[in-house]
Amino acid sequence: MNETIQKNLEYKKYVIDSKLQYFKPHASKIEKTFAEEISFSLNRNTKFISPKFFYDKKGSDLFEKICTLPEYYPTRTEIRILQNLQDELPSFIDNSYRLVELGSGASVKTRLLLDIFTKSQEKTEYFPIDISEILAESSEQLLQDYDNLHITGIIDTYDGGLEFLKNYDKKNNLIIFLGSSFGNFSHIDGENFLEKINSTMKSGDLFLIGLDLVKDTKILESAYDDSQGITSEFNLNVLSRINDELDADFDLNNFSHYSIYNKDEQRIEMYLKSLVNQSVIISKSNLSLNLKKNELIHTEHSHKYTLDQIKTLLKKTGFNIIHTWLDDDTYFSLTLVSKN
Ligand SMILES: C[S@@+](CC[C@H](N)C(=O)[O-])C[C@H]1O[C@@H](n2cnc3c(N)ncnc32)[C@H](O)[C@@H]1O
Repeated sequence: MNETIQKNLEYKKYVIDSKLQYFKPHASKIEKTFAEEISFSLNRNTKFISPKFFYDKKGSDLFEKICTLPEYYPTRTEIRILQNLQDELPSFIDNSYRLVELGSGASVKTRLLLDIFTKSQEKTEYFPIDISEILAESSEQLLQDYDNLHITGIIDTYDGGLEFLKNYDKKNNLIIFLGSSFGNFSHIDGENFLEKINSTMKSGDLFLIGLDLVKDTKILESAYDDSQGITSEFNLNVLSRINDELDADFDLNNFSHYSIYNKDEQRIEMYLKSLVNQSVIISKSNLSLNLKKNELIHTEHSHKYTLDQIKTLLKKTGFNIIHTWLDDDTYFSLTLVSKN
């Protein structure tokens, strides 16, 4: 592996071969951020852990399992929409586009878009951006299946990836953000994030966003609390990660997964509930944590939207709506936009 320091971007560059390279912040920066963020988010009355910390190797694998669960409709519904979009998307992009993906994960749905790109391009460029190391594994798998694919992976936060992309070159980008991961943002953070994407885009760039729609409470609640307990395992795994990486002593038997749909706020709220009065030490965050019985640690919001709200939000943040694709049940939406 050839490693070169990218001083100006604070990234290390890993060139695997002529078709695959990654950029990654230095390890010390990543660990420091994790310890500091946990110290801040757990050392307060309303405790929370950012959902971006779910995705260590085990968390990413558990998320892939969630995607196959009968209760978890978002993945199979979005895949169905992407399949239907195969004939229509090519009329909006020409051969000059590169595919950029925020939160690419296992890049499973990406394949439906890469099918379109690689069919019409001699060389297709794909820039996955993901905080999880799963990016490396999924990139290697993609390269086994697509001959004319060239991958530049950015193993970093969405914000880091967008900074990386800004002014990168003059090539047109189709930026995709699937899985309704956008729903994890609060309304204000979401608007700021969309404005950031908008300011990263050049004229000619396109953005495709997958958003989950408001629906029956039962369907929503069972998608985030499945009968096999995989979502529960995924939620609790963040405590194991803190134990392993920040030298902490969470006893997972003393916590349970709790999720509920808040109709007024149009969001699934996911928590870890403390089952007893307990104290936990998180050494690398310099934190001694006292939790009361039934106290909640918030771990994720997953906002749901109406089609009108999506239109208003995208227009407000500087986009022109080009097209919205839906499934037959109107469970999920994919919206293609350009910059105003
Ligand atoms: C819910 S999964 C979605 C994966 C895939 N896009 C899909 O639709 O199935 C979210 C992905 O985004 C990544 N992720 C979460 N928060 C992130 C952040 N703040 N910055 C970069 N990646 C993030 C996770 O590692 C994970 O792979």
